[in-house]
Amino acid sequence: MIKAVSPLDEVHDDEPPVERRMVHVRVLRQDAPGQESYWERHAVPYEPNMNVISVLQKIAERARAEDGREVSPVAWDCNCLEEVCGSCTMLVNGRSRMACSALVDRLLAESPGEIELRPMSKFPVVRDLKVDRGRLFRALERVKAWVPVDGSYDHGPGPRISPEEQEDAYPLSECMSCGCCLEACPQYTKIEVVRRDDESEADFEHRRAAAYDRGFLGAHAISQAVLFNGHPTGKMIADERLESLTSAGGIQMCGNAQNCVAVCPKHIPLTRSIARAGRAATVWAIKKLFDR
Ligand code: SF4
Ligand code: SF4
Ligand code: FES
Repeated sequence: MIKAVSPLDEVHDDEPPVERRMVHVRVLRQDAPGQESYWERHAVPYEPNMNVISVLQKIAERARAEDGREVSPVAWDCNCLEEVCGSCTMLVNGRSRMACSALVDRLLAESPGEIELRPMSKFPVVRDLKVDRGRLFRALERVKAWVPVDGSYDHGPGPRISPEEQEDAYPLSECMSCGCCLEACPQYTKIEVVRRDDESEADFEHRRAAAYDRGFLGAHAISQAVLFNGHPTGKMIADERLESLTSAGGIQMCGNAQNCVAVCPKHIPLTRSIARAGRAATVWAIKKLFDR
């Protein structure tokens, strides 16, 4: 078997030329939701400047495991291929990151021999490396992570936002809903709701949303609530966001472990957002007490 060699390694005389090197990959596969997972090994020819998505494309093209068995192509999600859409998150060598920006040369330099790919562990697996991130988007609905627009008629010019305020808000607006912060968070535990045989689609959606709503919102949603509560138009429904932030599964569940900020690919200052949201939630709770 030809050993996987990183081009960053020193090249020795007995090493195969670049065109004969192989990238060895170990993929945790799962055929359908709720089924047992299993490991499968693949090997694809090395090319300079590959990323994990191009490795997965080659695996799909071959549709054969390393031992020559015909296998179904590995499933995964991706879209933008430039770390913007947030859809390609997976565990690469045990760390949640974007497959499109995970470069093979760097991965082999950091862990020579083999690349390990697993789906995120905090979301239900749809198939192989593809997970259902619905809970993540449900949390954005819970905190109303948008600026409310009343109709489509001309509202005239919007309120002015100073350059300082823009600078403060911009980093938070870069969130791509990738889920890395949730994968790393000890307070964010997996919720998987399976549809019953006798259940309608609508009943199932309702039951799943209710289960998601009891779980922790997560750092991404807290940060988006801070972003929109700081926006001159968005703050019109600031109280509704604070209500969500302080209800079941709200900011009180955050244990301040700060794992989220360490893994965010966009380097969003999540702990600053959490601290701001915590202060605003306390003030709001006290105000609510006196308003009774
Ligand atoms: S700071 Fe809060 S949201 Fe971030 S990882 Fe820790 S518990 Fe999770
Ligand atoms: S806050 Fe960062 S890690 Fe979390 S979803 Fe947004 S971009 Fe991803
Ligand atoms: S494909 Fe869009 S972030 Fe990776």
